[in-house]
Amino acid sequence: MTNTAIENYPELLAQIADWPRFLHDVLAPNTLLGKRIVVTGAGDGIGKALAKSLACFGADVILLGRTRAKLETAFDWIKQHTQTDPVIVPCDLARLDTDTVNALAESISDHYGSLHGLVHNASMLGPKIPLVHYPADQWQTVMQTNVNAVFMLNQGLFNLLDQGDPSCVIHVSSSVGLQGRAYWGAYSASKFALEGLNQILADETETAGKIRVYSVNPGGTRTAMRREAYPLEDPQTLPIPEQHMSLFLFLLVGSLLPGQISKPLPTTGAQLDARNWQS
Ligand SMILES: NC(=O)c1ccc[n+]([C@@H]2O[C@H](COP(=O)([O-])OP(=O)(O)OC[C@H]3O[C@@H](n4cnc5c(N)ncnc54)[C@H](OP(=O)(O)O)[C@@H]3O)[C@@H](O)[C@H]2O)c1
Repeated sequence: MTNTAIENYPELLAQIADWPRFLHDVLAPNTLLGKRIVVTGAGDGIGKALAKSLACFGADVILLGRTRAKLETAFDWIKQHTQTDPVIVPCDLARLDTDTVNALAESISDHYGSLHGLVHNASMLGPKIPLVHYPADQWQTVMQTNVNAVFMLNQGLFNLLDQGDPSCVIHVSSSVGLQGRAYWGAYSASKFALEGLNQILADETETAGKIRVYSVNPGGTRTAMRREAYPLEDPQTLPIPEQHMSLFLFLLVGSLLPGQISKPLPTTGAQLDARNWQS
């Protein structure tokens, strides 16, 4: 695979030798040319790695996130190293309302005319304390960011995703959204709700067959959120975000370009674990 963007992205380049053959066979700098994909939380961690990785394979990425300076850093890298047309959308999901979502849908429609992917990656950890002491205002903020904003974006961007070309929605989940754990409070409850949204949207769109829907659990990953959750852990023991890119690329390329990847896609609505999807 010759790809000058990836040559300027050493963390991703280091992973490629381990990618499965069926990804090598399909991925080229223009594989995702003309595909427009929203990534939330695109300024840091897994979202930033995903935004840069998608651009390396030709996608126009709409980078949504809270901190403008972080989004600009990712945007500048993409502009410098790829031929794609990214945009940034500074937005605090804790304050998202339907007017803002409708304005976003309108500007995506005006600028690109279409949308093919939506990756709900942004989330807030919130405090790690027992439910009995959990402050109600922080509960609301976490649920608003991690669940309500996902519902609003799925609803407000649905018509753009449902325009004709195949599309894909990915919900980035967590182990504590599958098995509750003491002191994980609103974050854990919000990820259970996200799994519910994933299954409902998949069920509602399965018959039409145009939109594929997935939940991805990255597992422990070397990011700011993980440091916040486990301050005493040695980060060097954890995978970097780029180690998860092969799964995201498999799901997005496979959904957006049906028939081009030899490995069959998981059923829509499936819940995938980034640590063991190849095994
Ligand atoms: N890292 C792990 O070990 C791990 C494990 C399981 C699941 N996950 C999931 O993986 C996803 C990515 O997490 P990460 O580890 O990459 O965390 P991260 O590095 O802390 O990144 C989280 C991103 O979400 C954005 N964000 C947070 N609150 C927001 C808000 N209110 N509005 C808009 N953007 C907001 C952040 O923006 P700012 O930087 O501007 O604040 C940041 O870009 C999350 O859904 C997380 O639950 C992570």
